[in-house]
Amino acid sequence: MKRLAILAAAVSLLAACAQTQEAPKGALDTIFSRKSVRSYTSEPVSSEQTEILLKAAMSAPTGMNVQPWRFVVVTDDAVKEALAGPRGKMIRNAPLVVVVCGETTIMRKPSPEATEEVRMDNPNWTADCAAATENLLLAAEALDLGAVWTACYPYPERMSQTISALGLPEGVTPYCIVPIGHPDGDNQPKDKWKPENIHYNKW
Ligand SMILES: Cc1cc2nc3c(=O)[nH]c(=O)nc-3n(C[C@H](O)[C@H](O)[C@H](O)COP(=O)(O)O)c2cc1C
Repeated sequence: MKRLAILAAAVSLLAACAQTQEAPKGALDTIFSRKSVRSYTSEPVSSEQTEILLKAAMSAPTGMNVQPWRFVVVTDDAVKEALAGPRGKMIRNAPLVVVVCGETTIMRKPSPEATEEVRMDNPNWTADCAAATENLLLAAEALDLGAVWTACYPYPERMSQTISALGLPEGVTPYCIVPIGHPDGDNQPKDKWKPENIHYNKW
């Protein structure tokens, strides 16, 4: 079953790439060429591409395999407008916007001896959502789409605007907003290789 799922994902990736007549990039090419893209053409992102982006996001690792992420896929102009507010030109102009959200609590037994689960804070939810977001950005790059991570959590104003724009339920916190589209203009990756940031064995 697992092999079938991987095969199905690979077939959809190839099908999505066939639309652009290009072979998918390898993992390292994708990582090294990823960059934030903030301007998009009006060409829509297909439903096949959207599904690959979300499958990639959900393939990220999570603490205790809790998978606390929830995704809101926005294509409706009125919802984009409500999300964008006065500052969000790229959210307004992107054909697709994915809002990465997280459930911040989990049901767990407080000790191995306990018989009942109780609701506890999940200390890993932001790391889990960050891993999903990076996977989403890499998948966008692999599909020759452009995307950018825009912060939501932990800024109270951005969070409350997003909660009300999307009608998020209690316990679901918006983590970041990712506008996605076909890149407009020339976008180049930045060179961030700094050997001085590495320490070997000890600082
Ligand atoms: C946690 C986080 C928050 C970010 N928030 C924003 C944002 O609100 N608006 C924006 O335009 N870019 C945002 N970015 C994108 C960064 O500006 C961008 O990643 C950085 O300048 C490096 O450029 P690159 O992504 O092209 O390598 C964010 C990135 C991260 C990781």
